[in-house]
Amino acid sequence: MFLKYKPSATRRAVVGWSVGGVMSTTVPRPGMAEAATRKFSLRATAGRRRLVPEPHPDTAAWCYNGKIPGPEIRIRQGDRLQVEVTNDLAEETTVHWHGIRLPNAMDGVPHLTQAPIAPGDRFVYEFDAVDAGTFWYHPHQRSFEQVGRGLYGPLIIEEANPPWVDRDVIWVLDDWRLAEDASISDDFGNAHDLSHAGRLGNTVTINGRVPEIFEVASGERIRLRLINAANARIFALDFGDHTPRIIALDGQPVTPHNPSDGLVVLGPAMRVDVILDCNGEPSARSQLVDRAYRGNDFRVLDFTYAETALREATPDWPIALPASPIAEPDLSSAQRHEVTFTGGMMGMMVEREMGLEPNGGMMGGGMMGMMHDGRGIWFVNGKAAQGHVLDPFLTPKRDASHILELTNATAFDHPIHLHGHSFRVISRNGAPTPHREWQDTVLMAPRERVEIAFVADNPGDWMFHCHILEHQAAGMMGLIRVA
Ligand code: C2O
Ligand code: CU
Repeated sequence: MFLKYKPSATRRAVVGWSVGGVMSTTVPRPGMAEAATRKFSLRATAGRRRLVPEPHPDTAAWCYNGKIPGPEIRIRQGDRLQVEVTNDLAEETTVHWHGIRLPNAMDGVPHLTQAPIAPGDRFVYEFDAVDAGTFWYHPHQRSFEQVGRGLYGPLIIEEANPPWVDRDVIWVLDDWRLAEDASISDDFGNAHDLSHAGRLGNTVTINGRVPEIFEVASGERIRLRLINAANARIFALDFGDHTPRIIALDGQPVTPHNPSDGLVVLGPAMRVDVILDCNGEPSARSQLVDRAYRGNDFRVLDFTYAETALREATPDWPIALPASPIAEPDLSSAQRHEVTFTGGMMGMMVEREMGLEPNGGMMGGGMMGMMHDGRGIWFVNGKAAQGHVLDPFLTPKRDASHILELTNATAFDHPIHLHGHSFRVISRNGAPTPHREWQDTVLMAPRERVEIAFVADNPGDWMFHCHILEHQAAGMMGLIRVA
């Protein structure tokens, strides 16, 4: 069992609305509101937070506005968002608005789209919320440490007419590597994490606390917005007696469906919105279990039912979300591009098995790469990124349709993220995907081939990288230029 901190039986950390939660609100406010500029401010600081229950001490962390997760930014589709970010850290930072289709200059990539925000300095981000959905924000400067120390928060963009639910709840999942004294282990970016599965921790939190129970009521319908803010941990959530229905992936609507194998899977940076109908009996209890890593299943929390039912049966209200205004790629005319990921521990072996030409010349994922300053460990089409200012490895024609044929020629999973666009995942290992889901981050298994399709309609320099933040830091990043 990897969990070092067992939730205490006496002091229960209740996830959600009832204990200092503020991470959920009841949304439905049908009717049209005026589009408006909505202003928020974020201050990145060091602070102390209680992640694990007493008698463990609290934890020195980095956070936005003194909170982990940072404050919920919630606006409506069509609003303009303005966020003033103040850097009270001792190092440079930026904020990236993960999954948002925004102008390049607002993308928060240091040295590429903006100068990093110096300690004591400020930067104002401003953009229109074109798509509704569940998004998040985090630094793009030394993310493997800044995100790992607690800098992240939810960004929710409401539909004009969201499906009716009793509660709209956000769970920001994270995974921490804590020492015995509940301090954050400071071995960020060590060679092992860089070359294997990234920084896996020993303590899972939801909304910044080790969870214990989540209170529900019979007949209740919840829209649960899951956000994986972990550096490296993949979650595969088994809702047990409940049957969540997936209505959005990475913020984007998808045909409502039950998760395959009954597991709701989130690689780092991914989001899943589910409709959770609470069909247990009053006073019932049932478990949420994570099954992402074979042999390491663990109980995340218990759903506990109130003694009184909210209603007789779960409702049958419609759950489908309205489509986002994203240009549809034309698959018949799309230009095709191959993108091959290599490197990491045992990468050479996988490349050989897959019959690939050793790519990237002398650095092709072998020992030479491993020795390169801890950086050149992972490769995109044979190149390992150092920093964000890169020559583009792809210059897709603007406003045209493109298919990227992705090959994971490594021994590890990789959640691959494209900035500034959402793409359709159209096939896996040659088989069409059932939902042709829109995503901004696609989780690839070792040896897997995935095709994604999109219209390159957002001009600018966009990062394309693995969101296991140690892999990103060790080179697994490229630049796509849409001009
Ligand atoms: Cu969530 Cu390039 O980032
Ligand atoms: Cu990776």
